Amino acid sequence: MGSPLRSLTLPSPSTPVPIHSFRSRAAFKLIQLNRQFGFLDNARSVLDLCAAPGGWLQVAAKALPAGSTIVGVDLDKIRSIGGVKTLVGDITTPATAAALKRAGGGVAYDAVLHDGAPNVGGAWASEAYSQVRARAKKKMDGKK
Ligand SMILES: C[S@@+](CC[C@H](N)C(=O)[O-])C[C@H]1O[C@@H](n2cnc3c(N)ncnc32)[C@H](O)[C@@H]1O
Repeated sequence: MGSPLRSLTLPSPSTPVPIHSFRSRAAFKLIQLNRQFGFLDNARSVLDLCAAPGGWLQVAAKALPAGSTIVGVDLDKIRSIGGVKTLVGDITTPATAAALKRAGGGVAYDAVLHDGAPNVGGAWASEAYSQVRARAKKKMDGKK
């Protein structure tokens, strides 16, 4: 039997209304990636870093069999999804790393997903500018 994800149809770009109720467009990226690489097909435990609002978690919940371990973490609270454990935490901290190990039962996850991106809210232009400036400075400093 193939993965349940293989039978999910993607809406064409001209479809005005999404046919699935995923929380984010990112969900479709994960479906496509999994279609190509199949990393969720045999997974029984998945960790999703930077997972809010939860589109990838919804896809994982559809792809993995019942009883699988699916854990998502984000700085923002993730609305509950059946069969998924969610945590609020900063993935750069040891406290979050420890909480994620505990949530996974102390064993390695079969697949780790990561879609982290800064929350830039309404200040996108100024955030983008300061990030580009910081990277340029780092590059310049490296050349000294
Ligand atoms: C593009 S969104 C993820 C979308 C998600 N894959 C989905 O399918 O709904 C990026 C997320 O990264 C989170 N993020 C950024 N830095 C983080 C950090 N240090 N720790 C935890 N989450 C972080 C943001 O809060 C944001 O929700």
